[in-house]
Amino acid sequence: MITIPSKAAEIIKNGEIVAIPTETVYGLAADAFNIQAVLKTFEAKGRPADNPLIIHISNLDQLKRIAINLPEIALTLANSFWPGPLTLVLQKHSNVPDIVTGGLPTVAVRMPDHPLTLEMIHLSGPVTAPSANRSGNPSPTRAEHVQNDYQNSVPVLNGGISRIGIESTVLDLTGDQPVILRPGAITAEIIKNKTGISVSVLENRDNKNRTKSPGTRYTHYKPVATVEWLESETKINDTNTYYIFHSDLIFKPAPNIFYYKGDFDSMARDLYDHFRTADHLSFSHIKIEPLPDLNVSPLIHALIDRISKARGN
Ligand code: TXA
Ligand code: MG
Repeated sequence: MITIPSKAAEIIKNGEIVAIPTETVYGLAADAFNIQAVLKTFEAKGRPADNPLIIHISNLDQLKRIAINLPEIALTLANSFWPGPLTLVLQKHSNVPDIVTGGLPTVAVRMPDHPLTLEMIHLSGPVTAPSANRSGNPSPTRAEHVQNDYQNSVPVLNGGISRIGIESTVLDLTGDQPVILRPGAITAEIIKNKTGISVSVLENRDNKNRTKSPGTRYTHYKPVATVEWLESETKINDTNTYYIFHSDLIFKPAPNIFYYKGDFDSMARDLYDHFRTADHLSFSHIKIEPLPDLNVSPLIHALIDRISKARGN
C-alpha cells in the first residue's frame, strides 16, 4: 500500500501499473502513451483488448494531447463538471496508442476528483485507468478490494473509500447530438440545469446500440451470489440471503439486513462493498428492494443500471 502520490507517479513513469483512488471507484493506472504499460493493465484485469479505456487527466492542457476537434460544449462541460464523475468521448488524437481505444477513432477522457490522484497525474502525466477490479468482479471502492483482487501483487495508492461508489457517467460528444452511454452520478437533468446543454440517454438494452459503448457488451459487476429484486411477498428470514432496503421497513435488525432510509448517496457508495461482502461470507442470494422513480435521486438510474447488470441482464 502506498500513501504518497509521488511514489505512485514514479511507478507510472517506470512503465509499471498502480491502482489509484478516484471519487467513483478505484482505477488501475498506466502511462497513457506507453503501449507496454497499458497492455499490463489489460493482462492484470483479464480484460478483452477491444474494450477501450478512459484516460485520466489533471488539467485541461493535457486534453490537447489526447483529443482533437474539440466541440465548444466539451469545454463548457469540462469547466462545469471537472474534476468530477463525467467522462467525455471525443475524437482521438493520433498521439494516443490504438490499444487505449480498442482501435476506435474516439477516446474517453475525464478529470477525477481525488486529491491524491490529481497530484499523481500532475507528476506522471495522463494515465489510462479502467476500474481496478479483476474482470467480472464489482468495481473496487476501497484499497482493500483491490488488494483482495490481486492478492497484493499490484501496488495501491490508498485514498480511502470512494465517495460516490459507482463509475462515471460516459457522455459521447462525437455524434450528431450528445448521448449518455453509461449512466452515473451526473445525469442529463444535472447537465441541462447547470449548462443548458441537452443530452439524450442511450437505452442500451438493444443489440444495435450495444456496439456504441463497447463496455456494455461484457458482463460486469457480477457477484457470485444471485442478485434479485425483492418481491413484496417475500419473507425476510432467509439466513442465506443478504437484504438491501432503500426504505426504512421495520424488520428485526440483523447482520444480513441493511436499510438506507432514502439515503441513495450512501446506498450507491456501499453497493459494490455489499456485493463483495455477501460473496466473502458465502451468501447464496442478494435481494434488493425495487428502486423508486428516477426523480427521487440522481443516482437511481445508475443504481438500476448496475443492479440490472449484477442480475445478469
Ligand atoms: O468512474 C470511472 O469511469 C472509472 C474510474 C476508475 O475513473 N473507470 C471506469 O473504467 O469505469 P472502465 O474501463 O471500467 O469503463 C470504461 C467505460 C466502458 O464502458 C467503455 O466501453 C467506455 O467507458 N468507453 C471507453 N472509451 C470509449 C469510447 N472511445 N467510446 C465509447 N465508450 C468508451
Ligand atoms: Mg469497469
